[in-house]
Amino acid sequence: MSSSDSTTKSAAVVIRQPDDWHVHLRDGEVMAAVLPHTAAQFARAIVMPNLKPPVTTTALAEAYRRRILAALQPGSRFQPLMTAYLTDNTDPADIADGFKRGVWVAAKLYPAGATTNSQAGVTDIARIHSVLAMMEKIGMPILLHGEVTDHSVDIFDRETVFLERILGKLLKDFPGLKVVLEHITTAEAADFVRAHAAQMGATITPHHLMINRSSIFEGGVRPHLYCLPIAKREHHRLALRKAATSGEACFFLGTDTAPHFVHLKEAACGCAGIFNAPTAMQCYAQVFAEENALDRLETFASLNGPRFYGMPANTAQIRLERKAAAVPETVAVGNDSILVFATEAAGQWSVAEVVPA
Ligand code: NCD
Ligand code: ZN
Ligand code: ZN
Repeated sequence: MSSSDSTTKSAAVVIRQPDDWHVHLRDGEVMAAVLPHTAAQFARAIVMPNLKPPVTTTALAEAYRRRILAALQPGSRFQPLMTAYLTDNTDPADIADGFKRGVWVAAKLYPAGATTNSQAGVTDIARIHSVLAMMEKIGMPILLHGEVTDHSVDIFDRETVFLERILGKLLKDFPGLKVVLEHITTAEAADFVRAHAAQMGATITPHHLMINRSSIFEGGVRPHLYCLPIAKREHHRLALRKAATSGEACFFLGTDTAPHFVHLKEAACGCAGIFNAPTAMQCYAQVFAEENALDRLETFASLNGPRFYGMPANTAQIRLERKAAAVPETVAVGNDSILVFATEAAGQWSVAEVVPA
């Protein structure tokens, strides 16, 4: 049970430790720099497989998992949950074998060309029908980057058109397939997920709860607020806030923390992705406090995700308190750095572990 006191100025809430159902940890020295921030807040995380080259086989996933565990600080109980990167050539037998052996918990569908490191993704869903049939049979969820790649479709419409052209048919063709629509950004997506909640869920990021498309151009172009799917109009942000704070079981936490070096964001063609691992729970707490819904933060952050994935909720607890606490502006990687999202809003909150598992 959560306890909260959102009516007074000194808002505070104690909740079961959350999990992050959508994380990019990258690899090598970037992973070493960003991993402690995710592991400090979350017990488990779905690790996205869009490395270069991508994590397409059980063997690659096992090796990647070992590198993550080796990079954790001594004593950390953080558990990475691995995912398979689907391609036109994915072998259904390897997908099933990795799921049955517990190497991975889900597979990720990147439409080829839709987002960062998606070049090797699926060019046409028809090409992976046998993989999807296998996943439906064994109860393995598919995680979707839900945007069409047709560049004649306006960038702000690519998620909605994905629902119309791709997702409706996918759910009909594979009625037993468990689906997560990742990082939803529109009112239409939230409504679609609600309407199909028996079969699917959706993650919602901190940034899509906090910024709209005008934020990206406030006073000039702000490359650090550029991610995919791109932030939409204000009414969509409000719809996402309503969904996240509603308590509905189909909506759960997924930060889509996506580190890129500052010089690659502040460029003529800047990368898509927002790095929020150090400020994630503070941002969610701020949003839920603003919506007078701190008493539903635990449901969104710590209960709905495990229920969807068929895992137990965590037993450790964390305390979030509206009390100034230091957050880093940037995370250094050698001579490079990665800018942290929303440090000002997040700095009003402190996050502390209260009851270890
Ligand atoms: C992600 C990344 O950088 O890996 N970028 C992003 O803008 N969200 C990829 C993704 O989740 O689409
Ligand atoms: Zn994505
Ligand atoms: Zn992502």
